[in-house]
Amino acid sequence: MTDRLTIRQPDDWHLHLRDGAMLTGVAPHTARHFRRAIIMPNLVPPVVRGDDARSYRQRIMAALPADTTFEPLMTLYLTENTDPDDVAAAAESGLVSAVKLYPAGATTNSDSGVRNFDKVRPVLETMARIGLPLCVHGEVTDSDIDIFDREAVFIERVLDPVLRSVPGLRVVMEHVTTKDGIDYVRSQNKDMAATITTHHLIINRNHILAGGIRPHYYCLPVAKRENHRLALREAATSGDSRFFLGTDSAPHSDPTKETACGCAGIFTAPNTMSCLAHVFEEEGALDRLEAFTSLNGPAFYRVEPNATTLTLVRGSEPVIYPDKIETGDGTVTVFDCGFNLYWRVED
Ligand code: NCD
Ligand code: ZN
Repeated sequence: MTDRLTIRQPDDWHLHLRDGAMLTGVAPHTARHFRRAIIMPNLVPPVVRGDDARSYRQRIMAALPADTTFEPLMTLYLTENTDPDDVAAAAESGLVSAVKLYPAGATTNSDSGVRNFDKVRPVLETMARIGLPLCVHGEVTDSDIDIFDREAVFIERVLDPVLRSVPGLRVVMEHVTTKDGIDYVRSQNKDMAATITTHHLIINRNHILAGGIRPHYYCLPVAKRENHRLALREAATSGDSRFFLGTDSAPHSDPTKETACGCAGIFTAPNTMSCLAHVFEEEGALDRLEAFTSLNGPAFYRVEPNATTLTLVRGSEPVIYPDKIETGDGTVTVFDCGFNLYWRVED
């Protein structure tokens, strides 16, 4: 049995680092294992203009040790007022790696998101011209659409029409959670890819709801039925270059999750690589872990894979991760995968 695996250092293509004391508390957990991460812009207020991204990037770097090798890849939050020239300038200077589309009201801090897609067409056309990826939160927000159907309906009503009307737009369907999403990505050309989270490879909707409600498994898009989880596993472990890791690690303090109306988001930064090694081993696909965490994402984003490596070691005793971390903004619960982990990242 393989008990040691060295791969190119991974990148996280979808990460929430927050701001202030929470940023300081969580950023080191990602920087420990990941060389780069696409930083989500859903702060309050959101990261909308190039200048906002520049100052947020400085705050992230200030939250890490001076000798860190971690590189935040910044994104802009698409609003109906986004200026195409500001986006183009931010991309061309190398400051920004993608633009994030949230349908208004889809998730945490998404009130500034897009309602009328005609209003953002000039930005999307500019992005298509310069090859800047659009990261899409793929859920409709209509109250009459069942929450478990919102991804599939988004593909049909929003994503497909947008792709047809803006040829050449490069799109990442973020945190895909359904077989419908996987099939859709596979039906498209090389301009389309998807990120898959660690937790959606591990939990289905029963984990959230059966035998008691578990707020720390609640995230958006919400975990779906088992057949969808299996489709995600198949895609992630297939080696198909259109699928890569975006953890969507999204910390919220315990009081804001363990309440009558809890926040969506699962914090997986500390144990993601151990969980993924476990999943890929279960699927007999350890040899394809590197493609998922370290090669497919750089290829889509047109950057070199990392020259540095990360080594995973399989021990005979379970690895114990803290259940919670303390931050200056409160206690944050770490994702409980529900089984023993034997793979750990070598220091
Ligand atoms: C994210 C957050 O908390 O910012 N929450 C989540 O459940 N994934 C927002 C998001 O990516 O939808
Ligand atoms: Zn997210």
